[in-house]
Amino acid sequence: MFVSKLSKLGVRVLKELSRGKCTSVTRTGYLQRPHGYFWRPQFELQPEIKVFEDAMFQKHHHFSSTTTSNTCKEGNEEKEKISVTFVDKDGEEKHIKVPIGMSMLEAAHENDIELEGACEGSLACSTCHVIVMDMNYYNKLEDPTDEENDMLDLAFGLTETSRLGCQVIAKPELDGVRLAIPAATRNFAVDGFVPKPH
Ligand code: FES
Repeated sequence: MFVSKLSKLGVRVLKELSRGKCTSVTRTGYLQRPHGYFWRPQFELQPEIKVFEDAMFQKHHHFSSTTTSNTCKEGNEEKEKISVTFVDKDGEEKHIKVPIGMSMLEAAHENDIELEGACEGSLACSTCHVIVMDMNYYNKLEDPTDEENDMLDLAFGLTETSRLGCQVIAKPELDGVRLAIPAATRNFAVDGFVPKPH
């Protein structure tokens, strides 16, 4: 409705301009140029044309506000990351930031950390095996599903705090978690191991 009114007003402005209704000319528009002064006529607009101008300004201003709020949103998203440390088999640590909702396997791959993930998170291997180095953090994780436990049973170097990296999802409570990558993995596809059916 408002847009339609603006359009009608815009058409009227154009008509009035073509009819020369913007009649008052002030002589205040002098611009300095390198070779002297240049006179630029300025038109005093009719009140309704001014309304149109104001409306267009407000519309534009609205878009500016939207841009600002998007910037704020991006800022918040930037904050929604947790700190995670991966410790490789040689004891070398890599500190990374992981967005909330991302799995540790994805985060490792995005940061060039050597965590295999042969089945790409479909719970058909144990090559994304990680060891949560602090029991307090381990207790903050969701309980493993039966499928994850089945795969973990076949993992190399299983410990009490072992999990599959593709099933550990970043959440605020895990900020600061440290994950050790075992010295070796067992890949059924390569090793020719076939898990027993249940
Ligand atoms: Fe295969 Fe995690 S990547 S179970």
